[in-house]
Amino acid sequence: MNVRLAPSILSADFAALGQAIAAAEAGGADLIHIDVMDGHFVPNITVGPPVVRSLSRVASVPLDVHLMIVDPDRYIEEFIDAGASMVSVHAEASRHLHRTLGLIRANGAQAGVVLNPATPALAIQEVLGDLDFVLVMTVNPGFGGQTFIPRTESKVREVRAMLDAGGYRAPVEVDGGIDLSTIERIVMAGAEILVAGQAVFGTPDPAASVRSLRAAAMAAASRRPAGRPAQAP
Ligand code: DX5
Ligand code: ZN
Repeated sequence: MNVRLAPSILSADFAALGQAIAAAEAGGADLIHIDVMDGHFVPNITVGPPVVRSLSRVASVPLDVHLMIVDPDRYIEEFIDAGASMVSVHAEASRHLHRTLGLIRANGAQAGVVLNPATPALAIQEVLGDLDFVLVMTVNPGFGGQTFIPRTESKVREVRAMLDAGGYRAPVEVDGGIDLSTIERIVMAGAEILVAGQAVFGTPDPAASVRSLRAAAMAAASRRPAGRPAQAP
């Protein structure tokens, strides 16, 4: 099983995003996670396509753009044109999820669906074949530095099992409260893409933090039976 580390720049110094990305990449980041918030779907406002465009010029790894916005269809093309390689939309914010995923893929990016903690895994049952990854929120979206919600671990298992049962290899991504105390259990549950904001940029040495998170994630991945959902402890 492959694990990928996706540091979230939400916890970085917004006056020095280029340096933050360079540090994350020096530590071996596989992706850079960018949180787009509109002040409507979530109670916070962050960045839009112009910032993604500038960051795509300095990043060497793909940009994973997490859209926490209402009516995402209006902006998908613009974010992909700005350099997003992966785009995820919330099931709760998409009126026509199947169409939205098609729009992301048609514009050449990988399409992801995000599930809030209160949204059941079954919300993606009908689009399992239309997505490239599933992002299970392990906190309520809107802010960095929140506490991991333990209940979400079983949803990661459930989503992984649903994908496996359908023969889909799309990875499960997790986002929120991922640090050295939670990363192993969530990888054991089946998560392969690990977003971490505070655990990377809230530390004095982001590169070293990415390396330790990866080491912990890989240790857990090697204990997980290949090709099968891990058993609940
Ligand atoms: C929260 C965002 C996350 C956030 C995670 O709404 O989607 O990507 O940056 O931050 P941490 O890792 O600090 O919980
Ligand atoms: Zn995010």
